[in-house]
Amino acid sequence: MCGIIGYVGQKNNTELGIKALKRLEYRGYDSAGMAIVENEKISSVKISGKVNQLKESLKKTDFSGTPCLFHSRWATHGKPTEENAHPQFDCSGRVAVVHNGIIENYRKLKEKLIDEGHEFTSETDTEVIAHLIEKFYEEDLTEAVRKTVSLLQGAYGLAVISVEAPEKIVAARMSSPVVISVNESGGFVASDPAAIVEHSQKMVFLEDGEIATVTEDGFEVTDMENISQSKKEVEIDWDLEEAQKSGHPHFMMKEMTEQPKSIKNSFRGRILMKEGDVKLGGLDEVVEKLKSIEKLTILACGTSSYAGLVGKYLIEEISEIPVEAGLASEFRYRKRPYGEKEAFLFVSQSGETADTLEALKKTKKKGALTLGIVNVVGSSIARETDAGIYNHAGPEIGVASSKAFASQLSVLTLLAVYLGRQRNLSVNEGREILKNLSGVPDSVEKILQKKEEIKKLAEKYKDFEHFLFMGRRYNYPTALEGALKLKEISYIHAEGYSAAEMKHGPIALIDENFPTFAICLKDSVYDKMISNVEEIKAREGPIIALKTEGDEEIEGVVDDTLSIPKIHESLSPILAVVPLQLFAYYVAVKKGHDPDKPEGLAKCVTVT
Ligand code: G6P
Repeated sequence: MCGIIGYVGQKNNTELGIKALKRLEYRGYDSAGMAIVENEKISSVKISGKVNQLKESLKKTDFSGTPCLFHSRWATHGKPTEENAHPQFDCSGRVAVVHNGIIENYRKLKEKLIDEGHEFTSETDTEVIAHLIEKFYEEDLTEAVRKTVSLLQGAYGLAVISVEAPEKIVAARMSSPVVISVNESGGFVASDPAAIVEHSQKMVFLEDGEIATVTEDGFEVTDMENISQSKKEVEIDWDLEEAQKSGHPHFMMKEMTEQPKSIKNSFRGRILMKEGDVKLGGLDEVVEKLKSIEKLTILACGTSSYAGLVGKYLIEEISEIPVEAGLASEFRYRKRPYGEKEAFLFVSQSGETADTLEALKKTKKKGALTLGIVNVVGSSIARETDAGIYNHAGPEIGVASSKAFASQLSVLTLLAVYLGRQRNLSVNEGREILKNLSGVPDSVEKILQKKEEIKKLAEKYKDFEHFLFMGRRYNYPTALEGALKLKEISYIHAEGYSAAEMKHGPIALIDENFPTFAICLKDSVYDKMISNVEEIKAREGPIIALKTEGDEEIEGVVDDTLSIPKIHESLSPILAVVPLQLFAYYVAVKKGHDPDKPEGLAKCVTVT
């Protein structure tokens, strides 16, 4: 979750570092710091608070050299204080370390180091790394880092500078992303391509167990045995402008507005309309294996797990393969039998979510076929899976996922048709679904034009303290996602429920102070939904219904309605989620909250 930037070169170090940290603000942070090797010593500034405070403090310095390290921290061990902010130092202050991840055995290491005479100044797990490097340093910083990381258990993406090696940065990775890049602007290390994409579009991703030595003129990557590794550069296909707000007040608004484009990008070049089929190049290598799978398990976290749940309905119905969908965080601790013909699908926007990655590693150990639906190119999940499909949704910066979700649903539809056409789905049936999918971008555009209507509803409902979202079948996961959106950015207590389950408890909560958002489309469960809505009304609960355009029947039953265009039931969540996202956004903004940076949440959860 922390942000790391390292730079060695001729550019203005503080300007470059602060700009890069700001690009990582979306990851969530509570403190920040930097260090620089200059005049044979390390100088450093650390603050508890925002990157802007670090910027202000740096104005009082005249740091100009490199190598330098910058870091924004999201506390895991120790409070977000100045002492606990990174960089962390050894006893002599000659080694500085920034780190993302958790060192699980740090207590043991710390005790031993204290026995050996090392003095600690922070509560962080990271500080042991600096002291270990001090202990192992003989003549070569890279070697000292190698010896150090061989003792670490847990996750780390780290970067190190030392007075002893003023021409380089050493970086290492285990389960926490690190990218490096060297070009005419100098040498860069970062925890996320977004931090340095302004300076370089060609990056090298470290693998677990790799250590990189980066100078102004080049880099070398070695493994734990000091064997040199040949690395390929990956072209990052988004530019800086794409990662900016483009005139929108928040990234979330920009990203919701981009949905027609990102959905289109997810199926561009993949639909074979005549054949009623789908081309997914990323699955070519496993096409034969996929023909024989008898079960699919979809695993993910957060919003991606709700996409996975929609995926379950889609794939079971369209391809007739039994599908289990669940939380990666639960799955990784489960003991369950594995079928010989079972495949696993991991859905992740960032490709770095720790629980999803751990679940993936677990299934790989069992020898299962693993697939990914990932947005961030070159991310850990994308690399670790046997095959996969990229979303091509572009960078998502707002903490609350929006365009990634819509894009995941689109890709899951493609996958369902792909698997279906390998089995019993006819050309015509495939074509019908794909035609509907092709029409989704225009329908989303239409819904986006209803912003004012949704804004008014947000004004009317913003002061309620509780909210219920309910739907059935395909739109049960949509209800879960609607509730998640509202609670994560507006801090209103919201629950998502299957409408059928209301009678089993939640209906007891309903009264005039507990409104419901009911997803009530003209589909196979419409009549059932109407009955559930009536039950809410009987308890005087205010109701907003999301209805299909042209449905007049529901008008008399509920308090307010919003409509979406008619669509094939299996694709309805892609449309239905959009008004729910906008509703949550406007409620948050009207209540004075910043939807891009919900308190205590992070874009990418790389700790478990
Ligand atoms: C965090 C984000 C969510 C996201 C979840 C899973 O909680 O705030 O928006 O849905 O992680 O992330 P992933 O990158 O794996 O989709």
